[in-house]
Amino acid sequence: MYSDYLNPQESPLAMRKKIALIGGGNIGGILAENAAYRELGDVMMFDVVEGLPQGKTLDMAEGAPLVGSDASLRGTNDYADIAGSDVVIITAGLARKPGMSRDDLLKTNLSIMKQVAEGIRDHAPEAFVIVISNPLDAMVYTFKEVSGFPKNRVVGMAGILDSTRLRSFLAWELGVSVKDVTALVLGGHGDTMVPLVRYCTVAGVPISQLIDAQRIDEIVERTKGAGGEVVALLKTGSAFVSPALSALEMAEAYLLDKKRVFACACLCDGEYGVDGLYVGVPCVMGAGGVERILEVELNDQERKQFDASVEHVRTLVGQIDL
Ligand code: NAD
Ligand code: LAC
Repeated sequence: MYSDYLNPQESPLAMRKKIALIGGGNIGGILAENAAYRELGDVMMFDVVEGLPQGKTLDMAEGAPLVGSDASLRGTNDYADIAGSDVVIITAGLARKPGMSRDDLLKTNLSIMKQVAEGIRDHAPEAFVIVISNPLDAMVYTFKEVSGFPKNRVVGMAGILDSTRLRSFLAWELGVSVKDVTALVLGGHGDTMVPLVRYCTVAGVPISQLIDAQRIDEIVERTKGAGGEVVALLKTGSAFVSPALSALEMAEAYLLDKKRVFACACLCDGEYGVDGLYVGVPCVMGAGGVERILEVELNDQERKQFDASVEHVRTLVGQIDL
């Protein structure tokens, strides 16, 4: 009887992938809505707040007929319900408020990430894990250390967001389509991030041929402060739509084996001269997760900025007591 399979996830016929969201807050809500409505996979939202994931996903599920999605949307407070997940996206933790840096979240979010890593390790041991929680470079490192997952299945979402912000600022400056702007931001996800201006183009044309150097510097500074700019305006939290959409690009690349090239926080084992740290570098993302890291040439100034960013991450990670 069809009623035996009312919930697609219990049906042996279910062909959709399963996406677990750990954290049902601002970003988690956008993730759930977009993942399900695009039918990227069936969604299981986990949160520690009773009723929050259940209520949010029920509301979204009731709207599904309007977008024609048959993906299932469920919420839970029980890690057992994430079993079988193909992808897990982690937003559990506090977001910053005005006046706070991402690093200020370390102590609180560290204890949360330890719990989360144990839950995912125990209930979704084969999943590809995308960490969003801040301070990002320290949180993804923590997840890797606690879970013991292989490095190709643990990645941090940061550089793709920072690069996307830079793309937007450049497109607005030039009055061109955002589709035709490419940008690359490497290093830690914070004030020391490294926008690689030399690798930013409009339809392949280096931006240095289109925008004067001083204005480029101003746009680079806006990119570094873009997260804080939104925090100052919202006053109650940080950006949540662009981060969610950035993480979904990564999830889609994995689920559909798209071999996309993104700046992500990847575990470097010698790449860029970095050993044993997660920092933002260009990588190829497909069915193998982080399939390989692309080492691009850095000039002296870029290398100096990148090394300084890595040192900031190293100092932050040095504060982690697992
Ligand atoms: P939010 O406060 O709206 O949501 C966080 C959710 O985590 C809440 O629903 C809370 O109940 C839940 N939570 C708390 N402890 C938990 C636990 N132990 N297990 C499971 N869930 C738990 O915050 P948000 O705006 O969604 O941001 C989430 C995180 O993402 C923050 O740390 C924020 O700084 C970070 N962030 C990162 C980036 C990035 O580029 N990497 C961008 C934006 C935000
Ligand atoms: C923030 C995100 C962008 O904290 O990391 O604003």
